[in-house]
Amino acid sequence: MRGMEICRDLHSLRAACAALRAGGRRLGLVPTMGALHAGHVSLLAAARAAGADAVAASIFVNPLQFNASDDLARYPRDEEGDLAKLRAAGCDLAWLPPVDAMYPPGNCSTIEVAGPSKGFEGDARPGHFRGVATVCAKLFLQTGADIAAFGEKDWQQLQVVTRMAHDLDIPVRIQPVPTMREADGLAMSSRNRFLSPPERAIAPLLYQVMLDAAGGMAGGAPVPRVLAAGRERLVAAGFAPDYLALVAAESLEPLDALDRARPMRLLAAARLGAVRLLDNIAVAS
Ligand code: PAF
Repeated sequence: MRGMEICRDLHSLRAACAALRAGGRRLGLVPTMGALHAGHVSLLAAARAAGADAVAASIFVNPLQFNASDDLARYPRDEEGDLAKLRAAGCDLAWLPPVDAMYPPGNCSTIEVAGPSKGFEGDARPGHFRGVATVCAKLFLQTGADIAAFGEKDWQQLQVVTRMAHDLDIPVRIQPVPTMREADGLAMSSRNRFLSPPERAIAPLLYQVMLDAAGGMAGGAPVPRVLAAGRERLVAAGFAPDYLALVAAESLEPLDALDRARPMRLLAAARLGAVRLLDNIAVAS
């Protein structure tokens, strides 16, 4: 069995990707910031299921998408554990660029995606999606990936990256992958490890509130009333909700009534202690 190649400079990455794509083989890419969990591993399998003959994963904690330097410093890192998980998942190539390989001194070009970057995480984390779009465009161009798998857990990010690749004619297919959840419904996230035991016990309520809200809307209850009741339930349980909103799934345009003509999504972000939890679910149209 071929071992996993590890690249830390652009020159060796390009050579390794060219070898994996030789003879028309399709390369899948799973962009990550490390601290890998089962959700990331499912992205590797999804890239293969979507037609990738070989799969590369990047591990890069992208400074451009953090707006508070303490959040960047606190981001969990476990290179050895991550590489072991990638190997076990049959990953062919790991791309671990140092910051100055990704952003060499003097670099001053970024990518701004308007539409789906607006509102929600775009408001909560100014500049965040500029950083995400820029690094993802670079990863697509560096690897020449044919398919890139992204979790639906970060729904707004998925829409921003899909829009960016389309608008810039980057020949990569963005493959959405359903959110992996713990047995109690909590969406898997690298940040869950920062929840204290009492917070961890409360955390799954976020998903339950969303399911109940989607059920209430489907049953005909007025959307603003359902959303307000959901937010109140979260506050009563100890969350500080940032938003609980019904949106058009692709444009993220907020909706105050069901719009059966297009796919819809319920988005939520709420703080529990120091941890900000994000989640989203489809709303039947
Ligand atoms: O979702 C993430 O982990 C990051 O935003 C991504 C897509 C790897 C870009 O840095």
